[in-house]
Amino acid sequence: MNSDSLSLTLPDDWHLHLRDDEALHTTVPHSARCFGRAITMPNLKSPVTSVDAALDYRDRILSYVPQANRFQPLMTLYLTDSLSPQEIDKARETDCVVAVKYYPAGATTNSDNGVTEISRIYPVIERMIEHDMPLLVHGEVTDHCIDIFDRERQFIQTILQPLIRHYPTLKLVLEHITTSHAVDFVQQQPANIAATITAHHLLYNRNDLLAGGIRPHFYCLPLLKRSSHQQALIEAAISGNPSFFLGTDSAPHGRASKETDCGCAGIYSAPAAIELYAEVFDSHAALEKLEAFASFYGADFYGLPHNQSSITLLRKDWHMPSEYRLAGDVVVPIRAGDTIAWQLESNS
Ligand code: NCD
Ligand code: ZN
Repeated sequence: MNSDSLSLTLPDDWHLHLRDDEALHTTVPHSARCFGRAITMPNLKSPVTSVDAALDYRDRILSYVPQANRFQPLMTLYLTDSLSPQEIDKARETDCVVAVKYYPAGATTNSDNGVTEISRIYPVIERMIEHDMPLLVHGEVTDHCIDIFDRERQFIQTILQPLIRHYPTLKLVLEHITTSHAVDFVQQQPANIAATITAHHLLYNRNDLLAGGIRPHFYCLPLLKRSSHQQALIEAAISGNPSFFLGTDSAPHGRASKETDCGCAGIYSAPAAIELYAEVFDSHAALEKLEAFASFYGADFYGLPHNQSSITLLRKDWHMPSEYRLAGDVVVPIRAGDTIAWQLESNS
């Protein structure tokens, strides 16, 4: 490796929103550029709550994968109060429905059908433990009395800690962590508890969202936090601890639904995903740690093989377009109209 070029085993994205139908025309090629597999989140407008729905959704995604590209969506089920343990058995019989996503009801985009009370889903969790299937957790309480910047910490204390005390062998990913509390928590757990970290929470903090104006394209959930939390996330990502791995949480929304008086949450980072992580690791003199974070630790956690092919990144500026077409609207990507310091050379 010379300092202007970096070859990596093909990475995977362990947290991705592809949306559906026409939007897949935009989102699938963007992620398939630089990822071999992606955990595909089930929070569609009509959430993916059955194995049959997940397999149909997978077929729709695959129909948008560019020719000669071998991108594989790994499907997830959306956990509702009424998901049955038998559906977990059915998922296990497929190779491609690999996890269950837990959204507290009302926590984020399209989460109204989420879990209202954790004990209601204990039978499903017990079946997941039998099958060694991970529970993917949106870790924020929804109680309006709790300050929005404290909702992750509160979730860890009041929901997550009791849950893993009750089920210490449950495989669990705390998704898109944003605080030093989450970092400390995961560091203290055994290897069955992991966390994904987004590029935007590594690159930005709440000043980017609010200082100097309200920036709707930096609005995501969980919210960007203060700089000290950003630093804790960076340290975790570059630490070489296999419990922290890449998950972009790339979450496109049309411009019209972001730039409005009640804009929705989500940052679209897929067009520059791996390049943005390279920027972070590079600026902390940790490029040699990127491959394991992006290409090994997640696969190891899920019990999947590492990808066989590789990609090369070059230290070379390029210009992010100001928007991409998205199903009859446009989506404004992260760094719109600005420079990205690394560039994907090729899939080999
Ligand atoms: C995600 C979305 O738009 O689907 N939004 C976000 O801000 N991250 C949902 C989620 O992962 O919370
Ligand atoms: Zn998400």
